[in-house]
Amino acid sequence: MKDGLEGVIACQTKISRIELVNGKAVLEYRGYDIRDLARRASYEEVAYLLIYGELPKKYELQDFKIELAERRDLPPQIIGLLTHLPPYTHPMVVLRTATSYLGSLDRKIDVKTREENLEKAKNLIAKFPTIIAYYQRIRTGRNIIQPTLELSHAANFLYMLNGEMPSRTAEKALDMDLILHAEHELNASTFAARIAASTLADMYACVVAATGTLMGPLHGGAAQEVMKMLREIATPRRAEGYVRKKIEKGERIMGFGHRVYRGVMDPRAELLRRLAKKLAAEGSTKWFEISEEIAKAAYKHKKLLPNVDFYSASIYANLGIPDDLFVNIFAMGRISGWLAHIIEQYENNRLIRPRAEYVGEKEKKFIPISER
Ligand code: COA
Repeated sequence: MKDGLEGVIACQTKISRIELVNGKAVLEYRGYDIRDLARRASYEEVAYLLIYGELPKKYELQDFKIELAERRDLPPQIIGLLTHLPPYTHPMVVLRTATSYLGSLDRKIDVKTREENLEKAKNLIAKFPTIIAYYQRIRTGRNIIQPTLELSHAANFLYMLNGEMPSRTAEKALDMDLILHAEHELNASTFAARIAASTLADMYACVVAATGTLMGPLHGGAAQEVMKMLREIATPRRAEGYVRKKIEKGERIMGFGHRVYRGVMDPRAELLRRLAKKLAAEGSTKWFEISEEIAKAAYKHKKLLPNVDFYSASIYANLGIPDDLFVNIFAMGRISGWLAHIIEQYENNRLIRPRAEYVGEKEKKFIPISER
């Protein structure tokens, strides 16, 4: 067995496919190429595809958008919680705490019919952006801005966060970013969600497990670390030396490497690079230019390729999103993938309970405490 369950097939899924075809990585959600979805669908359309299993028809998408918009606002208890948490609490800790609290407010928390699962899923997808935006406003001493019914998922989030209508470019950029983060097979947080679901734990508990797992710097927390690196480097000409030194010291370059995309480009990183470039051209090019130099150096010195978190950092910075909110934006996208997996697990369940190979000492003689 390889460490970290590398290469182990732990379940069957109909939600996404990652495969190498002619030396290139293919990533599909429910059979649709990520490139088509990123360019031609909206986040709401992709969330529907993931949780219902099919692309919506026009009227179904319209209804779904209304259903999400109507569920955006938060119960007063959650707003109270956001107000009472210390302002130094990491926004990801806030998100998982608020998710758990939402569970305590749901009288049907243990009901797992398909209809109820979809209802809970819509509620969570709709409320994640509001929790994130409200907490950001509250911890910075500003009034919360209530969600609107009219705006898209992406535009409404930016509006609640910044208090002004986002530009069309900003809306499109966030929308595409959310699509690209929405689903990725059995990554660590989704696996955590499925393990929780396999015990028939409630949906909120499964999402809390996933949210906690996503936060780590080897997973979704990497984008915040990328931004830290961009700030440390500060100017493109310092990138190569910085990367070389890190590699010589055997340290990790955040936003590079991937368990599944070994030696091949992560298709999401390719699309995000283009998006970062476009956004930079319309705003500040600084972070993108440093990113490009880091990418060149990481490839030159260790053949490392960027992953989904690398270009996300300069995209979020150009959208005016604070660094410690980056992983929350990842969660805002990934929530629909988690929910699709939780529902898939519930609907065809067997407890996930693997074995461990014991490598410790055996058959030792017990020594009473008085003699130790
Ligand atoms: N920086 C420097 N070297 C890296 C690296 C990185 N980001 N990612 C992988 N490597 C190197 C390892 O040092 C190792 O080199 P070696 O064979 O010379 O020892 C080789 O690549 C294989 O790495 P390994 O630790 O087996 O990869 P993994 O599959 O266990 O880990 C990640 C995958 C994602 C955890 C890892 O690439 C990483 O830590 N990346 C940075 C964090 C990150 O961006 N996470 C977001 C993932 S989407």
